Amino acid sequence: MLIRLQKFLAEAQVASRRRAEEIIKQGRVTVDGVVVDTPGAKVDDEGSAVCVDGKPVIKNKNLIYIMLNKPEGCVTTAKDQFNRKTVMDMVADVEERIYPVGRLDYNTSGLLIMTNDGELTYRLTHPKHNVEKTYIAYVEKEPEAAEMEKFRRGIVIDGRKTAPACIEIIGKNCLEIKIHEGRNRQVRKMCEAIGSPVLRLKRQAIGSLKLGDVKKGSYRYLNKDEIDYLKSL
Ligand code: URA
Repeated sequence: MLIRLQKFLAEAQVASRRRAEEIIKQGRVTVDGVVVDTPGAKVDDEGSAVCVDGKPVIKNKNLIYIMLNKPEGCVTTAKDQFNRKTVMDMVADVEERIYPVGRLDYNTSGLLIMTNDGELTYRLTHPKHNVEKTYIAYVEKEPEAAEMEKFRRGIVIDGRKTAPACIEIIGKNCLEIKIHEGRNRQVRKMCEAIGSPVLRLKRQAIGSLKLGDVKKGSYRYLNKDEIDYLKSL
């Protein structure tokens, strides 16, 4: 099948699609021995010999998709400069190298998808794919109705208003929050902004994909329906 060169590189885990476009423009990619520096050029995803910086790009066919229940006290990066525990440590026995889709803060727990499907990662983390994420937040103090209304309409954090969001009190000092964006520490900053600082935060769901009973620090493989669902978002 003919596909765009940057898509080929993203699917092969070379880089995100955007970064792959830059690599192509830098003239670092050859297709069947010829430099191709135009993003959008089509390649045969089975037959073309694609190299980056002279090294052949081998497409990984064994795609893996898992959901991890990330515990607090670990970073969502492949390697931490301070040698803290990372989410990679939690999936060390997975036979392929997989990467987190998006981020959860060091002290946030809950649902984190990890995969070696660069294309899906690109789609789910792109700002235009504003998938709803559900969080459970334990807060210092329950917000008043007026504060919750502000939260729902959007509040200014880091100089920019947030998109409309959902917030409900579902238990003592416990809120269910749904947001569509993925800004840095967004839930914590929004709660802080309405005078209800977060004590504990957990991501419960991404779209309709729920964490369910996966134990903290454990993971499970997604089934075909779940993978198809994520691809449809
Ligand atoms: N919002 C936050 O504040 N932290 C997270 O980890 C995710 C969303």
